[in-house]
Amino acid sequence: MTEIKIGLIGFGTVGSGLAQVLHDQAGRLEKRVGAEIRLKRVADIVRDSLPDHIAQGGKVTLTRNAEEIFADPEIDIVVELIGGIEPAKSFLLKAIASGKHVVTANKALLSQHGREIFEAAARANVEVGFEASVGGGIPVIKALKEGLVANRIISMMGIMNGTANYILTRMTDHGVPFAEVLKDAQAKGFAEADPTYDIEGIDTAHKLAILMTMAYGMPVNLRDFTVEGISRIEPIDIDFAREFGYRIKLLAISRNHGEHVEARVHPTMVPENHLLANINGAYNAFHFTGDMVGNVLLYGLGAGMMPTGSAVAADVVDIARDIMTGAINRVPSLGYLPAHITPRRITPMAELRCPYYFRFSVLDKPGVLSTVSGILGRHGISLESVIQMGQRKKESVPMVMRTHEAAEEAVQVALAEIDQLDICTDKTVKIRILAENTQES
Ligand code: HSE
Repeated sequence: MTEIKIGLIGFGTVGSGLAQVLHDQAGRLEKRVGAEIRLKRVADIVRDSLPDHIAQGGKVTLTRNAEEIFADPEIDIVVELIGGIEPAKSFLLKAIASGKHVVTANKALLSQHGREIFEAAARANVEVGFEASVGGGIPVIKALKEGLVANRIISMMGIMNGTANYILTRMTDHGVPFAEVLKDAQAKGFAEADPTYDIEGIDTAHKLAILMTMAYGMPVNLRDFTVEGISRIEPIDIDFAREFGYRIKLLAISRNHGEHVEARVHPTMVPENHLLANINGAYNAFHFTGDMVGNVLLYGLGAGMMPTGSAVAADVVDIARDIMTGAINRVPSLGYLPAHITPRRITPMAELRCPYYFRFSVLDKPGVLSTVSGILGRHGISLESVIQMGQRKKESVPMVMRTHEAAEEAVQVALAEIDQLDICTDKTVKIRILAENTQES
């Protein structure tokens, strides 16, 4: 029986998940690949030993030096699961230069330095697998690369960060304060090493950038799109959202307008009967609209040891099958052939139009409501409803407004003007509202 040998760098949550999957599913994978997929070497700078069932009496060796993996001519596939930019990037490039296929779950790296890695892989004629970089255990990369290949992707929308969704869900359903829920999410092992990435939408933006390249065949520069996180969302916003018939979700949204493409990540008020409003806890969901297929929703666990381990194993299997059939790069890593990945303009955020929710922090005194609504009116922003909370004895009170569809540019100018008024005690919280008909678009 042919053996496909794996070198694994990083034996943390996902690395140990991969080792477990390869161990538990060995027989099944053999029947599906026609070869034995064997973990041969593991590099990790923290571990002193591997669990007995993984080490298999020394058949799988542990080292602190990743170079031993690159130097081993028997290793076919190098799996990088350490995360971060360096040394992960150098490790992948060295593995590629040594003629190894590579698999990674590293969305931060791919969304910022993907081009260098994919070009190096193309020159070396090796494959790059990255299913686990987006959506954990959900086969979203494969869906775009293969299942939806016959479609022009018209739009993509999703909940792409389990930690943020877990926090918002717990705040919504149990009124638990933000900081407490974050600690809980970290303990459960799905938060990033730096939780700012999860909370401030950066991890979601990394994932959206990867999906855009795959869906539209374009390089994406993260600097070109708006990224806002959930750290300014307070329980009061969640309560108002409920009153208006919405749930707050951290969404990644992209629409294909042909010459230009929308791309944004921000907390969004989602109508409560929308599918995405009902994706809760650490679950992720990806909503695609293709011109042939219509709407597709993929749902599952976007993080965690075994789901993400299963996605990494799927990449290993894809490459192993290509090795077995001599069909390396049968499916281009990014879905498009490299020569057809061409730049496109990102729609300037100022051109966006949608309904908005504003929470002003204002002094409770006569004329405040008319001053604020007057400024909005002057900028062509029309109000749908207003709630002013009287909290006697408190200097500052929340005043909440929901608008009809308005222009982002006008909203930005109006809020800048309002926030400078003496009657405003804090920066206004602005949450975009997802239009009612988006599920069908
Ligand atoms: N930190 C990410 C999340 C998991 O919470 O979804 C890996 O992408």
